[in-house]
Amino acid sequence: MKVNDQDVKPEMEGLKIRELRESDLPSVVAIERLSFSTPWSETLFFNEIYKQRSIPKAAVIDNRIVGYICANHVADEGHILNLAVHHDFRRRGIAKTLVENILAELKENACRFLYLEVRASNNAARKLYEGFGFNIVRTRKAYYTEPKEDAVIMMLRL
Ligand SMILES: CC(C)(COP(=O)(O)OP(=O)(O)OC[C@H]1O[C@@H](n2cnc3c(N)ncnc32)[C@H](O)[C@@H]1OP(=O)(O)O)[C@@H](O)C(=O)NCCC(=O)NCCS
Repeated sequence: MKVNDQDVKPEMEGLKIRELRESDLPSVVAIERLSFSTPWSETLFFNEIYKQRSIPKAAVIDNRIVGYICANHVADEGHILNLAVHHDFRRRGIAKTLVENILAELKENACRFLYLEVRASNNAARKLYEGFGFNIVRTRKAYYTEPKEDAVIMMLRL
């Protein structure tokens, strides 16, 4: 055993974060449909790959797409637009690694604030973001559908 083996979740070995590619889209859309009641279409993901100021990333283990994140930046503001990890790969630090990757890239792009919105009942995501120091700035009443629910808007100073 290597010195730090006990600190590394075994499934994290071999995790790679890279730019999202067109060939990833079927896998991404499959995870998206499993993860959300109102999933993004393949076209929305496709557009993120080619839009200026978009940062779409894939999490890959053994050539399998296990998660993704889409963010963008305008002036000094970044936004996390979408994030999901396949059910079979959750609680292994993959979302954390994806967010860390985006934070580094947004800082390189001189962003000072990072915003996102999340369903009020989404405790997993809220805990993840709180762990990075995101704070609630306000709520948007009945923002989401299926089911109807408030959005919590969170912000992190970079
Ligand atoms: C939210 C989501 C992306 C988290 O992905 P993940 O890879 O499992 O998250 P991580 O393993 O990186 O978790 C990092 C931290 O987030 C928090 N967290 C993640 N999942 C959690 C859960 N189910 N319950 C409570 N806390 C959770 C924990 O603090 C965790 O740290 P720990 O495992 O050391 O306790 C994943 O559950 C998912 O895809 N959900 C459906 C889509 C979604 O809600 N996306 C976010 C939209 S805003």
